[in-house]
Formats: sequence, C-alpha cells, structure tokens
Amino acid sequence: MTLDANALKQAAAQAAIDYIEPWLKPDAVIGVGTGSTADLFIDLLCAKRDRFKAAVASSERTAKRLRDGLVRVLELNEVTSMPVYVDGADEINPQGEMIKGGGGALTREKIVASVSERFVCIVDASKQVEVLGRFPLPIEVIPMAQEAVLRKCRLLGGEPAVREGFVTDNGNIIVDISGLSIHNAVGLETEINQWPGVVTNGLFALEKADVALVAGQGGVTLVEH
Ligand code: A5P
Repeated sequence: MTLDANALKQAAAQAAIDYIEPWLKPDAVIGVGTGSTADLFIDLLCAKRDRFKAAVASSERTAKRLRDGLVRVLELNEVTSMPVYVDGADEINPQGEMIKGGGGALTREKIVASVSERFVCIVDASKQVEVLGRFPLPIEVIPMAQEAVLRKCRLLGGEPAVREGFVTDNGNIIVDISGLSIHNAVGLETEINQWPGVVTNGLFALEKADVALVAGQGGVTLVEH
C-alpha cells in the first residue's frame, strides 16, 4: 500500500510526539510551528496537554488550534527557554538547512525557533532536496519597501512575485523569489536580511534543524544535523 502525502505527514507528526516524549514535563513549554504538518502535530500534542505546562505558537493560526485543543498558549515574552520547537518545512537539504514560509509565518517561526534549544523538523520525503531553491524563497517585507526589494531580488537573478492578497500576522507582505539555486544558504540568508525593509527571509540556515524526522514509504527516518 502506498501512503499518500497526508498519511506521510501524519507519520512525521506521530514521530515528533514520540521524539519529544522526554521533554514533556510539568514545567515544560513547547514551541509549535505552522502549516499542515504542524497542524497534525498540534492535534497529537493537544491529547497530551496534561503532560506539559504550555506552548508558544508561531502564528495566530497555530495559537487558535492549540487553544481549541485546550492547551495553554503563552506569549514568547513570558518564556525564557523551550526544550524543543517542532515545525514543518517547504524544503530541507542534507545539512538541515531549510526553506520555510510557504504558509507565510516565517518571521514568528524563526523567532520562536531561536529561543528553543532544539529545532525538530517534520517533513515527508518529498521535501528533501540536495540544493535549496526549487521552492520559491519567501521574504517578509514592510509594504513601503516592496518595489525596492523586488529590484534587489532581480539583481540576485531571481524572479520575485508579491503574494497576492496575503498579509502576515505582523501586517506585512510576502515576496516569493523563484529561480534561485542556493548553494550558500547562510550567506544568502544573511545578505537578504540586511536589505532595508526586509523583516526576515525564509532561509533557516543560521537557525537550521537539529533533527529532521522524514516520513517516507519505508517509515520515518531520523536525521541529526
Ligand atoms: C509556514 O509558514 C511554513 O514555514 C510551514 O512550516 C511550511 O510551509 C511547511 O508547511 P506544510 O507542512 O503545510 O507543508
């Protein structure tokens, strides 16, 4: 039997719940990502709400899903540390560097991840790539900088497009850059983040995955980076 994409996401989410088991303690705060794979993880996490103190959400969408599942949601400013942050990715390379932000939550995802001790990435095997960039790279941009940032994207050799009708939780726009072949993810992440008007970009190379749980037809593989 061939597992479909949703079944693979479900398997990755279940593997994440099993993986974080040692950190589910009465004083623990868990960092929670955004997206369809993260949603499946949230549903499993909600069933374990009596085992940990609270969660920090990387988006309004995730906060609502956690609260609907009766998990206490804290603001990041109320928290000094988190043992784990669990989230999906749009692409992940063999070094654990990722493109994220397909759901537009990249900035809050990066902030929450930066405060947690371990980034646990949950993906199906279709997200594994040798070279990042087949998935358009999202950038969160302050609206008045839109045209200036589009020009800089073109100078990089990419084809930028404003994500139509989309506003981030922070009130900004998303620019998606197609046509990149990213061989130096740390360098590109650093460069784009220095453009005036860019809040952050969807490369997670400085903040890469410590562990990836990759669901394929043969089961879930744990990859440490
Ligand atoms: C949200 O902004 C993203 O970073 C998601 O984590 C990423 O797009 C993966 O989403 P799916 O699990 O829905 O593929």
